[in-house]
Amino acid sequence: MRVAVYPGSFDPITNGHLDIIERASKIFDKVVVGVLNNKNKKPQFTAAERVSLIRAVTGHLENVEAASFDGLLVDFAGRHGANVIIKGLRTVNDFEYEFQMALLNKTLSDDCETMFMMTNSKYSYISSSMVKELAGYNGNLEGIVPSEIIQYIKEKCGQ
Ligand code: PNS
Repeated sequence: MRVAVYPGSFDPITNGHLDIIERASKIFDKVVVGVLNNKNKKPQFTAAERVSLIRAVTGHLENVEAASFDGLLVDFAGRHGANVIIKGLRTVNDFEYEFQMALLNKTLSDDCETMFMMTNSKYSYISSSMVKELAGYNGNLEGIVPSEIIQYIKEKCGQ
């Protein structure tokens, strides 16, 4: 069985993330979305909330799961029997950092391959930080995050 992990902060999940998850779910037998529970970062949404939001918008994808993790990504991948890490690339700005992480992860676990998917051009400008800022100013989030979680995000971001 080909299992991939798709890691990130997902604070919160956006339509750009969901597009990558949907495309990856067609390529792999199972995709495990890994939500980093990093105590050094100060997320707006708790890890449990981020996992729930992901589950709420991926219910139509039978081979997608979501779970939080702390510690190393390669260990999380190993626990889930995954030997592929999926990453989405939006712009060339993403590349350098992602390239570094891919090489580091390859050094940590030689069996684990990082595979990059280019973002859908419709979503290349979307980021979770932009979503939080927009939500904080009561901006329109239609088309930017899945509609079923807009209200929750707005309430949580102060609107
Ligand atoms: O959405 P993000 O914040 O860009 O995701 C970053 C993430 C979670 C993929 C990265 O920070 C990560 O893999 N963290 C786990 C710790 C780890 O394995 N570090 C070594 C590789 S950088």
